[in-house]
Order: sequence, then C-alpha cells, then structure tokens
Amino acid sequence: MIELRGAAQVLRLPGEPYLRHDRAGELTLEPGDHAVDSAADVAIDASGCAVLPGFVDCHTHLPFAGWRAEEYERKVTGVPYEEIARLGGGIAASARALAAASDEEVLAQAEGLAAELLQHGTTAFEGKTGYGLSREGEARAARLGRELAARVVQPMRLTGLFAHAVPPGFTADGWMDEAEGLARECDVDALDIFVESVAFGLEQLDRMGAIATDLGLPLRAHVEQLSTMRSVPVALRRGARSVDHLSVIHPDDVGPLAASETAAVLLPGAELMNAEATPPARALADAGAICVLATDFNPGTSPIASLPVIIGLAVRRYGWSVREALLATTLNAAYVLGWSAELGSLEPGKRADAIVLDGPAEHIPYRFGHNPVAAVLVAGELAWVRPDQAWRVRA
Ligand code: NIG
Ligand code: FE
Repeated sequence: MIELRGAAQVLRLPGEPYLRHDRAGELTLEPGDHAVDSAADVAIDASGCAVLPGFVDCHTHLPFAGWRAEEYERKVTGVPYEEIARLGGGIAASARALAAASDEEVLAQAEGLAAELLQHGTTAFEGKTGYGLSREGEARAARLGRELAARVVQPMRLTGLFAHAVPPGFTADGWMDEAEGLARECDVDALDIFVESVAFGLEQLDRMGAIATDLGLPLRAHVEQLSTMRSVPVALRRGARSVDHLSVIHPDDVGPLAASETAAVLLPGAELMNAEATPPARALADAGAICVLATDFNPGTSPIASLPVIIGLAVRRYGWSVREALLATTLNAAYVLGWSAELGSLEPGKRADAIVLDGPAEHIPYRFGHNPVAAVLVAGELAWVRPDQAWRVRA
C-alpha cells in the first residue's frame, strides 16, 4: 500500500464518465489522506500538498523527430507562413526529419519526451501519426506509435492522423483513398483529420467520419484553428468524440457543441506559440460543454510538454477557475481517450494514477512556469519523485 498522508487538498470528482463544465464547481479539494493499492509499502508525507488524479494529455503528436526552433524564430520575427513553407518548413519539415531518422532515433527521442511528460504529472497520454506524409511513412508512424506505447511508463492511445497535410502529388480528395486504406490496415485507437484551408475540407471530414463509423473508431478532428470552416456541425453530425483547437469557432456552433457529447479540446499552448485567436472558452464552459485541455505537444505549433503550463495559460487566458482547468486535464481528458472508466479520477476500482504537488492546486496557474509536481504514481507504483521532495517518501 502507498499512503499519501495529511494532504492539504485531495481532488474528488463525481463518479461519471465526464462532467460538463457548468458543473465544475462539484469538484472538491478537501484535506485528507489517500491510500493506493500497491506492491510497495510506502508512506508519503503530503502535508501542504494537493493530491490529484494524474493528468491525462489527450492530444499530442508523439512520436515526432527533431524540432523546428529556427522556424519559430522566423515566425516570431514576422516571416509569413507561406514564406516559411516555401523555405521547406512546417509539417513537411517534420516529415523529412521523420523519414531521415532511424526507428531507434525516433523512439529514443519520444521516450525521453514521455519521461518529461511524466515529470510534469502526465500519467496517460495520446500520440498521433501525421508526419509520415506518404502511405509507407504513415504506416511506419503507426507502427512506431505502438512501439512507443510498449516502452513508456504511461498508458498511451494512438490516433491515426492520416489526413494531416496533403502529400505532394495528391489532391485532398485523392489522398483520402490512401488515408482510408491506412485507417483500414493500421492498428490505431482513433482517427483524426486536419480541417483547414491549407489542408483538408468539410467533404473529407465527412468522409473520415464515415470511415470511423465503419471501423468502430472514435473520430477526432483538428478544426477551426486558423480559419472558420464551419467544421463543427459536420463533426457533430458524425458523432465525433472531440473537436480540437476551436480558436475561431463560429459563434452559432458554440451552443450545439456544448449540448453534444463531443468534447471541446482546447490547446492554449498552440494558441500562444502560433499567435492564434483565443477560443470562447468561458462561453463553452458556461454553456455546459465537455471541455478539455491538452498540450498539442508537437515540434511546430506547440513544443510544450507541461500540462501545468497549459493549465496556467488556460486559467489566465480563458478566465477559468482552477477546478475548471483540473476537470479539463483529468476526467474529461480521459473521456476523450475512452478511458474514463479506468482512469481520470481518484476512485476505488480505477487505476491508481495520482500526483502529489509541492503546494496547493491554486499554485499551478499562479506560479506559472514552475513545475509543481513533487511525486507521480502510475498504476500504484511510484514512477517519479522530484529530488528535492524525496524527504516526503518513507519506505
Ligand atoms: O495541432 N494543426 C495541425 N497540426 C498540428 C501542427 C503540426 C505542425 O506544425 O507540425 C497542430 O497544431
Ligand atoms: Fe494537434
């Protein structure tokens, strides 16, 4: 047994598959102890600490190869996107890096980054394909995604983002035949598509929805990130599990999204780093949407691994309470991954994934940039203890 003793706050959520954001006030942060079934016999002094369910990062682009820091500098100093793309940047640059890297190089980088996620409290995450940009490249990305899942401490879902950018030599429509072939032959847990003026359109979103239904896989979609395409009504008609980004969602689509069981996955890291518009997150929450936060961890628009940083951005930019941000990074994020019966809250019968912070939960957004995670439990095992917090652990 692992005993977390004398916590200043233990986060408790109602035992439901998700909680609409107008009910975020039902989360409680009361003092207490929390015991976890474990092979180990350990007591952790949690005095002054918050004990939370482990964070769930339901939208990352792991595994990817290399980074794009030069591109970021060009972007912030005013070089237009078209120019960056003309110079070979963007998704194409990451596709070249992936193609040039060996399997072992890709997996070693991604494994290191999964450890970084863990140290920031992420005890379950999602990764995607999408940098393969060819039939063979995407099939390889799916295989590498599964190999990564076998290597990391956290449970990992894999999404086939087979329609990310239109590969050279294809039309968007033509590529969808390949994407459908990939969806049928690759081992993935969900399907995703980037709907944008520079990528795929509403017809392709609709077709991906039909493919997902046919294969019994959840549909996810990158939508309304840079231009208002009115993707949301199409995604809702197709019963999407989530619509992600929503920076420029049409005002008429907020109500229907909030009333649906499609989660609104907001990505404030990409909004900041990519200088995007801020989505109507306050309105979505007040209208009772199933709101979720994620890192969008990728080498282009969001090289941010830390959900505490994402919580800090959301609280400041969206005008969200700490409870709203915690709901969006635990239970509701688990719902997006189809895992809310297994994880996402501290409940008997669920996986014992928990984190101990070095202070109260309100410090997560307030001490912006500080990593508040002192210790991480994954499936009842102590998976990480921050060296300066080791004194809390007694065997
Ligand atoms: O979620 N929107 C499209 N895809 C990624 C960015 C991909 C990249 O630039 O490498 C995103 O922002
Ligand atoms: Fe993304």
